[in-house]
Amino acid sequence: MKPETKGQVQLSKLIFTHNWEDPAMDERALQIKADDTVFTITSGGCNTLGFLRFNPRQIYCVDINAAQTYLMELKQAAFRYLDYEELLAFLGLRHHPKRSLIFRKLISDLSPEARSFWLNNNSLIEKGIIMNGRYERFVKIASWLLRTLQGYGKTKRLFGLKTLEEQKKLYDTEWNNGRWQWIFKTLFNKKRLAKGGLDGDYFHFDDGSASFSESFHKRAGHAICDLPVQTNYFLALYLLGHYQNEKSIPAYLQQENFNVIKKNIDRIHPVTADSKYWLEVQQDNLFDAMALSNICELMDKADTHKLFSEVLRTSKPGARLIFRNLMIPREVPENLQSNIIQDSDLSKEIQFQDRSFVYGKVAAYTIVK
Ligand SMILES: C[S@@+](CC[C@H](N)C(=O)[O-])C[C@H]1O[C@@H](n2cnc3c(N)ncnc32)[C@H](O)[C@@H]1O
Repeated sequence: MKPETKGQVQLSKLIFTHNWEDPAMDERALQIKADDTVFTITSGGCNTLGFLRFNPRQIYCVDINAAQTYLMELKQAAFRYLDYEELLAFLGLRHHPKRSLIFRKLISDLSPEARSFWLNNNSLIEKGIIMNGRYERFVKIASWLLRTLQGYGKTKRLFGLKTLEEQKKLYDTEWNNGRWQWIFKTLFNKKRLAKGGLDGDYFHFDDGSASFSESFHKRAGHAICDLPVQTNYFLALYLLGHYQNEKSIPAYLQQENFNVIKKNIDRIHPVTADSKYWLEVQQDNLFDAMALSNICELMDKADTHKLFSEVLRTSKPGARLIFRNLMIPREVPENLQSNIIQDSDLSKEIQFQDRSFVYGKVAAYTIVK
């Protein structure tokens, strides 16, 4: 990507090394088929890598932050040159005494920019990158705090429960205590959010909540009571700080998917750009499926309109789309809603089933032209 690319912000800190969006919901919404051309936001790269299981023709993954592109290059190199055991050790799922020795096998596969980025961030490589982006480090600290407040024994017990009834009982009788409620009031404190530019009084919460703290408390309660905890690796990361075991991990890391992802690894094309400007220079009717993450929350109304206009132009008739909102409500602009049509039943279902549970909106759309 050339530095003069229109609208590109020069970001270079690695924020995400993991995707915090449930790929199973992306896959329900996008229905990726063999030979599809797919658009994604790179972020931690996990979901994009998992999409290779469906043998798409190509995936363009775009991120405004160059460090996320370097992460994707590194993960691609790891799939190209490592066997499964080494991959898990390199990423940090298994112990390894010196990961920089594995990195040596990958270095010549990287672009000069990615190579220099990773050489300057060798400490992240040594620790195992998967839980060492900025956000992941925050999650590990938060998980320590949550475990300490709830008690380690109770947290372990939660992940041993086998039925939703048992989960709900534990939540009602032991989990949803004053300390748990305090966490949400403190994290989503009105004054603190207002300092960050988020005034809760202006927001309408789809779940009927009166505040961010109430809404996030409900979202977490839903994850604990209504979705099986044993297969929820997001909940494990937020509460334990690591995956529960090697079974409950993202699809791209599961052993049975390793060979197909390795075979298709060159079909991912990482790009550093602001997606709305990158899409502007792509041809009409290119994409069969598009996953937009929650990037609209970082845009004003005019930019959101620009993005969705480009999404409509560059997607094929019948293409599928998913996007999310975490905190700030965003919607397809009104004048595009007859071409970018929300599938309400599927949206309700993926919103409910979403194991990553923090999003205020997870919605699926079909393009009609
Ligand atoms: C919106 S963030 C949220 C994280 C996300 N929910 C996840 O689970 O990974 C995801 C990524 O979008 C990138 N991003 C934000 N605005 C963008 C834009 N206009 N174009 C391309 N990437 C963007 C960020 O750099 C970040 O890596």
